[in-house]
Amino acid sequence: MAIEPSVLILNGPNLNMLGVREPGIYGSETLDDIEALCQERAEALGLAVDFRQSNHEGELVSWVQQARADHDAIVINAGAYTHTSIALLDALTLAELPVIEVHLSNIFRREPFRHHSYVSAVAEGVICGFGAQGYLMALDAVAQLIDADAMTDRN
Ligand code: DQA
Repeated sequence: MAIEPSVLILNGPNLNMLGVREPGIYGSETLDDIEALCQERAEALGLAVDFRQSNHEGELVSWVQQARADHDAIVINAGAYTHTSIALLDALTLAELPVIEVHLSNIFRREPFRHHSYVSAVAEGVICGFGAQGYLMALDAVAQLIDADAMTDRN
């Protein structure tokens, strides 16, 4: 049996507090709830998921570096590091993997400092404003990108 493509789903600072953190903005699901939804959707799509969260920029950078060898795509909600981290942008660039950027909230309807994303510079696409559902949309997008890639390789 073929090995399933592996997707690294990364969550940045404060996303471990989902459920209690501003539920009006971020929804009532916990990060564990979101992971369970992702595992279920990944299984249906024939993908393997490695779901992680860190409050530390350097740890996220190290995980992205390692993804180059261990994973086939990255889904990332970098939290506030989205708006500040050139280090994360550099790591995502050197990973040379398809990147899908996710945000629970619609960052463009919020404060101006949330309108700029360093992650977007390397992302295939950005999904924001759909809450936990956005992670599932990102997995659907990954499955399509990997499929399209496989088609190109065959032709
Ligand atoms: C967020 C949006 C960011 O601006 C914020 O700092 C977060 C969460 C989101 O999922 O909506 O931590 O990435």
